Amino acid sequence: MPVIRFVREGRDVECYPGENLREVALREGIALYGLKGQLGNCGGCGQCITCFVDVVGESSPGSLSGRTAVEEQKLRRRPQSWRLACQTLVQQSVLVLTKPQTGLGDLEQKVAQAKAEPLPAGPTAWPVVESDADEDESAEEGSEKAAGGETTTSSEEG
Ligand code: FES
Repeated sequence: MPVIRFVREGRDVECYPGENLREVALREGIALYGLKGQLGNCGGCGQCITCFVDVVGESSPGSLSGRTAVEEQKLRRRPQSWRLACQTLVQQSVLVLTKPQTGLGDLEQKVAQAKAEPLPAGPTAWPVVESDADEDESAEEGSEKAAGGETTTSSEEG
């Protein structure tokens, strides 16, 4: 499972591939919003620009969904590593700094420390129960053989 390492909070949070970053943060009690966002935010519609985060590291390129059109517009004057959490889906493990506009005394040291610990790569699909996987594999093998046989037969016929 992907891990979101929240650098400011010093927490690693596991999530399913494809989960929304804002929803995971709120579920886990991460203080995603500054004062303005706490007083009022758009609820994840990409309109208030209060949920931004800085992605300071990824387990591999493409660990997050690409920037949406809303982000391209709303974050055009912000660093490329900034994202709107509500527009971002987590595919693989990442390091995230919440409230990047707010200072953090030992920011560089905290980021370096968070980067030093390896991030698990995480799968890119929903977990599969082992017993089901075994059955699926045998079923696939059988169907491949059958398909191969059929293909040969049909090409011979055609
Ligand atoms: S919650 Fe408003 S832009 Fe993300």
